[in-house]
Amino acid sequence: MPQHILVAVAWPYANGPLHLGHIAGAYLPADVFARYHRLKGNHVLMVSGSDMHGTPITISAEREGISPEEVATRNHQGFLESWQKLGISFDLFTSTHTPNHAEVVHDIFLTLRDKGYIFKDTVPSAYCPQCDRYLPDRYLEGECPHCNFAAARGDQCDECGKTLSTTDLIGLRCSICGASPEIRISEHFFLRLSRFSEQLESWVRAQNHWRPNVSSFTLRYIEEGLRDRAITRDLEWGVSVPVAGFEKKRIYVWFEAVIGYLSASKEWAKINGDSELWHRFWTGDTRTYYFIGKDNIPFHTLIWPAIILGYEGLSLPYDVPANEFLTLEGGKFSTSRNWAVWLPDYLKRYDPDPLRYVLSVNMPETGDTDFSWREFLRRNNDELVATYGNLVHRVLSFTYRNFNGHIPPLGELDVSDNALLSKARDTLDSVGEPLGNCRFKEAIKAAFSLAQEANRYLDEKAPWKVIKQDRDAAAHTVGVALGAVSCLRTVLYPFLPFSSENLHHLLGSPGSIEGAGWSFTFPLTGQALAPPEPLFTKLDEDVVVEETSRLGQFVMP
Ligand code: MF3
Ligand code: ZN
Repeated sequence: MPQHILVAVAWPYANGPLHLGHIAGAYLPADVFARYHRLKGNHVLMVSGSDMHGTPITISAEREGISPEEVATRNHQGFLESWQKLGISFDLFTSTHTPNHAEVVHDIFLTLRDKGYIFKDTVPSAYCPQCDRYLPDRYLEGECPHCNFAAARGDQCDECGKTLSTTDLIGLRCSICGASPEIRISEHFFLRLSRFSEQLESWVRAQNHWRPNVSSFTLRYIEEGLRDRAITRDLEWGVSVPVAGFEKKRIYVWFEAVIGYLSASKEWAKINGDSELWHRFWTGDTRTYYFIGKDNIPFHTLIWPAIILGYEGLSLPYDVPANEFLTLEGGKFSTSRNWAVWLPDYLKRYDPDPLRYVLSVNMPETGDTDFSWREFLRRNNDELVATYGNLVHRVLSFTYRNFNGHIPPLGELDVSDNALLSKARDTLDSVGEPLGNCRFKEAIKAAFSLAQEANRYLDEKAPWKVIKQDRDAAAHTVGVALGAVSCLRTVLYPFLPFSSENLHHLLGSPGSIEGAGWSFTFPLTGQALAPPEPLFTKLDEDVVVEETSRLGQFVMP
């Protein structure tokens, strides 16, 4: 019976381009997982969208002197282009700035309010008399009490890195005009998170399949005590509050962004001609997976589940396989220092699969991992090209040349033929089991061990020598090796979709890879091959120096 699987992926802030840290953290594992389940014949819905509201966007907009909507729309277009080039196969990548999203958010907000899970209270807030507006933390500035940096922000000091609260700042002022803010009492809505503490705790404790760091991090939050949270803000940019008297306020970006998973599913259903289709992915025996970076854990293991518990009738997350962080050449990614590899830049210069490969074998699943250009080059040249690419190319070109472009018939299988073919058959499970349980590194390594085995098999059988005395024996060997290659095309498809599609075509296989499914069909005798071409390109040593010298450099946009 096919399962229903919702692949929910963190919504990127539309205030700038994505870098490799985001890809390794959420988008790549989500895509690998979705592609695997599609091959398995499961029903997959993979959704996300641009997180268009919140102060990160308004700050970028003010800096550039354009509207938040313009900033967000431009970056959204950039994301769409990157997904296409990198092969991130969303069923829908929408945004939080749609009428549909606002409608779904309003429904949830009002339902929770009617049930008593959302209540009104007052909060003292900073107000700038000169700008005539309330100031979010990020718009407040003052001297850092720890390092005396003059322009520390309301939430953090950029100099010493300490987190601050606005009351810590010395000489608090408005970062827009410099006036000193007054404190005004503002009315806001709160989510009664405390009410869900016990329910959340017993639910989290029962999730034995979660990554240990995700459970322990979440439980620590609960043990510290869940406090009710303000879910509206004094802002103009965002989803409106559907209550009279709140026209000048907006719903807090985190509260509405997590609802995006549901609103996107509903939008997808409408686009697909049946507005009820989303139910299959949100009720009953569906499984919902949330692919996020570790900084987003509490929003997905506490806030969103609390909203779901309060609303009732929707499935709680089945798994939240949060990744740790990727570092770059040993340092933290930083936009302000331009210590980053920006995805659009990468995609302009290189193919998508080498990046997908390197980030998969080195995914920050259970601890932080590092990306370096030296390692990128080494893995591309020594693993992707030398192990997998060469295997495929030497078998295909030898067969094409010597057997008239067709896969020749097999003879009798001997011990080593059987060993390779049964290894291929087992690989479906040795890759599929970890993949289905979000252990990506282990899965891609299992796939590559089949490539290594096939290389050893070919070296041992040496059909290029044997063909001089025994044409049939050589034909048999390449036939068996092509069996292994055809299995590699399948098991590597979730990770390396572009080269797998290419290989599918080179093998002369009919239909699509997805149509063939997660299976190993053999033999392929008689199939006409396409003229062979290498799957991957060796990269020149210069790449390392060239790319590392870009890091930390400033380029004007
Ligand atoms: N925009 C947030 C970030 O980049 C992530 C939001 S995930 C969501 O950290 F589910 F809340 F949308
Ligand atoms: Zn001001």
